[in-house]
Formats: sequence, C-alpha cells, structure tokens
Amino acid sequence: MSKFRLGVLISGRGSNLQSLIDACADSDFPAEIACVISNKPHAPGLDRAKSAKIETVSIPHKSYDSREAFETDLTDALESRQVDLVCNAGFMRLLTAGFVDHWFNRQINIHPSLLPAFKGLHVHEQVLEAGARISGCTIHYVRAEMDDGPIIAQAAVPVLPDDTADSLAARVLTAEHTLYPKVVKGIAEGTITINGDDVTFRDAAEGFSAPMISPLR
Ligand code: GAR
Repeated sequence: MSKFRLGVLISGRGSNLQSLIDACADSDFPAEIACVISNKPHAPGLDRAKSAKIETVSIPHKSYDSREAFETDLTDALESRQVDLVCNAGFMRLLTAGFVDHWFNRQINIHPSLLPAFKGLHVHEQVLEAGARISGCTIHYVRAEMDDGPIIAQAAVPVLPDDTADSLAARVLTAEHTLYPKVVKGIAEGTITINGDDVTFRDAAEGFSAPMISPLR
C-alpha cells in the first residue's frame, strides 16, 4: 500500500526532522518523507535528510522579492512531490494567509510551549520569566495567525527550579521528539482527523496528551 507523503519544512538544526526520519525508517510506519525543504540553504537539518537519502530542496526566501513569490515556489515543490501533509519542524518563516489557506488542514506545526501560552520567539525565556511550573510542546494545524490553530496534541514537562532556557529547551525537545511521530502516524493512518477546526481521535481512550513525560525530581 502506498504511504502517506510528508513534506517537512525546516530552517535549522532539524532534530524534529530526525525524529520523523527515524520513525519512517520502520517499514510499518504509515508515512514517508517525500522531501525536506529549507528556506535557509545551509540549515544543518538538510544534511540529516541527505544522510537518510531523502530529497532536499533549498528555497532561500532572501532570493525572492515577495513572500508570495517564495510561497509559490514552496507550493510547487511540495505539489510536484505529491505531498499529503506539510510538517513544519523548526520552520521559522511566517506564512501568508494564501499559503495557509492552500494547505488548510494539510499543514501542521510543532511549537515548544503549551499553546496558547508563550507564542513566538524566545519561548523558554518567556516561560522562565513568567514563573510557569509546567511547560511542554504543542502540535497544531496551521492557521494564518502565528503559533495558532486547532491543537492536536500536547506533552507536558516540569519546569525545575534551577532551569535555564537551555536546560528547559532540552527537556521540551525530548517530548517533541516523542510526540511528533505519534501525531504523524495518527494522521497518516486516519485515527486523527480534522473537520473545520474540530480535531477528532478515532480511539479517544488512547488520547494524545502526555502529562508529565519527565517526572519531577
Ligand atoms: C523546536 O523546539 C520547535 O518546536 C521550534 O523550533 C525548534 C526546532 O528545533 N519551533 C518553533 O519555535 C516554531 N514556532 P529542531 O530544528 O531541532 O527541530
């Protein structure tokens, strides 16, 4: 049976991409990565894809006069590879409503906080500054507003008293790497569906919220 085709968008390190590459390496996993696209030509994540023999495409946004022209090439690259689902994995470029509408309910994003709290950049600094005791990550369908859209799954981790932004980021990242392949699997096999803004799980009992992946000390 043909597999569900992913187009993974990255801008940097690509550790979430790696978690998807690793999941897809299992022949039973219902999805495959059709291509990895970066808006930054030197993103280290591109090397992860190349090592896994996955096609890479570099679409440097700086070479374009407008967001729309950049996004036209992005959509062409995704559609020519018959991508079913666009997975933003550390893709740090704002997308216009036109692109978001084109990929409506066919594009997901991972963000390193428990949305709707702590959107934007410097997320872990924001969490520490606010004195939050729990943080985590969120996977959601993409909408035109930044870090907004129907939430699919979240995983929580504790914020420890001696945390720095780096130590908290590392703990959240571990949760991200577990959650992203689970969500992609659910969407690919049809156990997670979306109708309008309503996300439904076929097996609600299984659920997709993972409270406290790391135990408190
Ligand atoms: C991840 O923590 C991801 O959640 C975050 O960027 C990092 C990318 O790391 N994304 C956002 O902040 C999007 N708003 P990675 O390149 O190693 O996957």
